[in-house]
Amino acid sequence: MSEFLFFVASVVFIYVAFYYGLVTGAKCRSSVVLKGKTAIVTGGNCGIGKSTALDLAKRGARVILACRDKRRAEAAVYDIRTESGNNQVVFMQLDLASLESVCRFAETFLKTEPRLDILINNAGVLGSGRTKDGFGMAFGVNHLGHFLLTKLLLERLQQCGSSRVVTVAARLHCFGSIDFPLIDSEKDLVTGQSMCHTFKAYCNSKLCNVLFTRELSNRLEGTNVTCYCLHPGVIHTSLCRNFGLPHLLTPIAKLFLLDPNMGSQTTLYCALCEGIEPFSGRYFANCSVQQPSVKGQDDALAQKLWEVSERLISTS
Ligand SMILES: NC(=O)c1ccc[n+]([C@@H]2O[C@H](COP(=O)([O-])OP(=O)(O)OC[C@H]3O[C@@H](n4cnc5c(N)ncnc54)[C@H](OP(=O)(O)O)[C@@H]3O)[C@@H](O)[C@H]2O)c1
Ligand SMILES: *[C@@H]1O[C@H](CO)[C@@H](O)[C@H](O)[C@H]1NC(C)=O
Ligand SMILES: *[C@@H]1O[C@H](CO)[C@@H](O)[C@H](O)[C@H]1NC(C)=O
Repeated sequence: MSEFLFFVASVVFIYVAFYYGLVTGAKCRSSVVLKGKTAIVTGGNCGIGKSTALDLAKRGARVILACRDKRRAEAAVYDIRTESGNNQVVFMQLDLASLESVCRFAETFLKTEPRLDILINNAGVLGSGRTKDGFGMAFGVNHLGHFLLTKLLLERLQQCGSSRVVTVAARLHCFGSIDFPLIDSEKDLVTGQSMCHTFKAYCNSKLCNVLFTRELSNRLEGTNVTCYCLHPGVIHTSLCRNFGLPHLLTPIAKLFLLDPNMGSQTTLYCALCEGIEPFSGRYFANCSVQQPSVKGQDDALAQKLWEVSERLISTS
């Protein structure tokens, strides 16, 4: 019985992996050096965020790991400093599931850091529950927290010339949709707490990431700040730890999925590659521009989401 399950799970995994972008072997070949530049990586303590932070540190950047857990973040700071030989890697507390924490982070950052060249909105959850402000977890953390964070840091980005905002979305945004009346009544993108709802909420929040980037680029016109969103590939990380998948899948996942270093390549491409500025607002995968879903290209939807998000952060 368990062998049969193993087989079925493998087949499903292989299908999902190949269909939804496991084959993203392209590497970011930029040789850009970041001496004197500052980057923030949200969720930089593990997974794709940690690999991203390590690469930026190796290029000489000052890297702020914006994370919720001090202990885990400081362990990552230690690892990254050791491996990169760069001691300009620091932890700053940020819990994206609390708008107050986002404000406090921005306040501290703006008080202590004179520049911001690269903001990487990387943190993400696939899980149920509510944020401190009562929003659905995926909506609150993946979208609203980053929305507020970006808004609060925009001025500093603009002061630093050709700065960039990179938001880690996902190919799964294709399954996403946004129900505005539901956001009003439930403060969430779904109703219900089943595994199915949790998964749908994640897809919907990733569509928010795509639309946020689209509208942000419109609003950044005339400045030297550009923004990008991306699918990192299907990567073996702890993203699904709270999703209740059987442990049986772990060895298969290890076997078939890419590692976090490969998972950081498109993020790095969007953060570093010279000459992609004309593609501000667009969606990338495998280190190249790709077409997002039809909803992901809807400017009216993007504008509405921006306005609704603005209202939600001001009334919470
Ligand atoms: N793995 C994939 O195949 C895949 C595919 C498509 C897109 N993505 C996206 O890639 C991004 C990185 O995910 P990953 O795969 O590297 O997963 P991961 O290893 O679970 O990393 C997620 C990061 O987000 C942080 N985080 C979660 N909730 C937070 C909160 N409330 N405040 C601040 N930080 C919070 C986590 O911090 P803790 O350590 O404290 O939990 C962790 O550092 C996510 O946006 C995800 O949606 C991943
Ligand atoms: C990813 O990019 C690499 C190099 O640019 C290319 O060879 C490969 O075919 C691409 N894979 C997919 C799935 O687009
Ligand atoms: C953008 O950068 C160019 C070239 O560095 C500069 O001349 C211009 O003033 C900048 N524009 C703004 C709005 O900062």
